[in-house]
Amino acid sequence: MVKQAGRAIADKAVELGYIEGPVRTVVAQPKLELVRGGAGDDAADFTFIDLFAGIGGLRRGFESIGGKCVFTSEWDKYSQKTYAANFPNDDHEINGDITKVEVADIPPHDVLLAGFPCQPFSIAGVSKKNALGRAHGFEDKTQGTLFFDVARIIKHHQPAAFLLENVRNLVSHDKGKTFQTIKEVLQDLGYTIDYRVIDGRYWTPQHRERIFIVGFREDQAFRFADMKMPDAAPKLEVILHPGDGSEAPDQRFTVGNSGRVSDKYTLTDHLWNYLQRYKEKHQAAGNGFGFGLVGPGDVARTLSARYYKDGSEILVKQEGQSVPRRLTPRECARLMGFDSAQGNEFIIPVSDTQAYRQFGNSVVVPAVKAVAEHMKPHLFRALGKKPKGAFG
Ligand SMILES: C[S@@+](CC[C@H](N)C(=O)[O-])C[C@H]1O[C@@H](n2cnc3c(N)ncnc32)[C@H](O)[C@@H]1O
Repeated sequence: MVKQAGRAIADKAVELGYIEGPVRTVVAQPKLELVRGGAGDDAADFTFIDLFAGIGGLRRGFESIGGKCVFTSEWDKYSQKTYAANFPNDDHEINGDITKVEVADIPPHDVLLAGFPCQPFSIAGVSKKNALGRAHGFEDKTQGTLFFDVARIIKHHQPAAFLLENVRNLVSHDKGKTFQTIKEVLQDLGYTIDYRVIDGRYWTPQHRERIFIVGFREDQAFRFADMKMPDAAPKLEVILHPGDGSEAPDQRFTVGNSGRVSDKYTLTDHLWNYLQRYKEKHQAAGNGFGFGLVGPGDVARTLSARYYKDGSEILVKQEGQSVPRRLTPRECARLMGFDSAQGNEFIIPVSDTQAYRQFGNSVVVPAVKAVAEHMKPHLFRALGKKPKGAFG
């Protein structure tokens, strides 16, 4: 169904993967297997846990600075499948619903990562007194509010640092009250926090503004303001299938030796006509809803978890054809930085529909790597160690 103007906030949150949608499959809880420093820990500079893990975008950033993932929670079975395919050597299972996990069953860790779902209905109603002041505060008033699952884990494990990620609107939601509550809870847990909205477009050709919240248990003078954005501003040409034979053929997304994008990604005439009428109607009414039509020299809008529905936010012009196409899931993997430009290493073991949802819910991997790099000296100081390479 095409997007409707004025769609409810909750619907938008489902779209962004921040609350549970009706079609999401809740998987049974896999058996918990505790990992308290498995093989390979010695080689790692630090340990971290990956909450609301999706397909592991945050994880990739922290592995890139020497971290080892010791615990994963993600309840969607299709995301679990993609995650497992791309991190095949883990010595821990993927845990399901985090609300059912006892904090004591989570191994100790240096860093906590969470692209926590923002449920617009509940956080603002919960004062920090309710959240922290009473023994069972997390379990009653805050029930179902996943941020507080993050908070209860931080409270118990006191990691040296954390990185939380969310949609940009978190800052302004409910006139700023939601974010205020989040900040107060984190500060009351003893952490010094800093945050910044970062656009992924410096690393991949996509406008994707997300808020990153960093906390250190002991103040390490971490400042997001010092983080320099790269000068680069890549264009879509670096992620699109070139279709000229210069790319290895991929039978799932392209056809023939030229690697031309398969016709199945071209919109039907019916849908294309619908989208055009829809755009005209809304333009006439003076609002900006409509599709985003792009070519190799452009930067895409934010890829959403609903991309599989009509693809309207990123439609690719096709030479010699009047009807545009969607991005292929491989192009989405590149757009999110899971694959390098023109790369195809990321394993996509799920249907196109699930793949679009997963990429649309995820993070721009090189943006997370840059945040991790910025945290690294502060983190290593907090942990009292030098990066492996620094010992000479
Ligand atoms: C916005 S996405 C985060 C994506 C992740 N940062 C990535 O790189 O792919 C939120 C994820 O939380 C998962 N989720 C939501 N509620 C959950 C719960 N109670 N327990 C575990 N995972 C949950 C969703 O399935 C979704 O994959």
